[in-house]
Amino acid sequence: MNANSENKTNFYGRDFLITKDVLIPRPETEQLIDAVLNLAGKPYLPGVKPSKRKLPENPTIIDVGTGSGCIAITLKKELPDATIIATDISESALKVAQKNAVLHDTPISFIISHLCQKVKEEPDLVIANLPYVDKTWEWLDLESLKKEPSIALFAEDGGLKLIKELIDTTNAKFLILEADPCQHEAIIKYAKNKYTLTNIRGFALEFVLKS
Ligand SMILES: C[S@@+](CC[C@H](N)C(=O)[O-])C[C@H]1O[C@@H](n2cnc3c(N)ncnc32)[C@H](O)[C@@H]1O
Repeated sequence: MNANSENKTNFYGRDFLITKDVLIPRPETEQLIDAVLNLAGKPYLPGVKPSKRKLPENPTIIDVGTGSGCIAITLKKELPDATIIATDISESALKVAQKNAVLHDTPISFIISHLCQKVKEEPDLVIANLPYVDKTWEWLDLESLKKEPSIALFAEDGGLKLIKELIDTTNAKFLILEADPCQHEAIIKYAKNKYTLTNIRGFALEFVLKS
């Protein structure tokens, strides 16, 4: 991809514009969408019965670190009655997300914000694929990640800095986080006084707020 070029990547059956300013959506992130549809009591995989609906009929959902907007836009398409708010700290990423929202005709509130700091609404669900790559992982192929922005990939504290801060600062009833499976145990332990783990789906951790 050269500096100004746009590519397309398929995510959950839809095409998204991708530039150098955003992460290329990954197949493992599609499981976060399955997790939300399951909470909404909607079918998501042939032959798999979704659970009883746990989200309200018109849920408010915040997608934190929206990048290309692939999660937020997919959720608006799949759950048209939901109010979707999407944040990112990168202004250039949000421009790409806004372009994708226009292409998919999905009304979404995009907000430049560190995590959810600038969001006033109380969400039912927070979903986040934040940067979680630890630069010191031995198995990393840093060369293959060069085309994507560092701000979308890397985080300090073993990759968990932003995930931990999000856990500390959100009070949403449902929380869905993507992280590498090698980080799951540490995240579950960190969250355990506040959030109960309800399911692990590939890279996705599903939590419910303790009452
Ligand atoms: C791993 S990418 C995920 C992009 C998209 N949600 C996806 O799943 O393809 C992480 C995104 O989080 C954003 N980000 C990084 N630090 C952030 C912060 N402190 N607050 C909000 N967003 C942040 C990055 O700009 C990037 O767009």
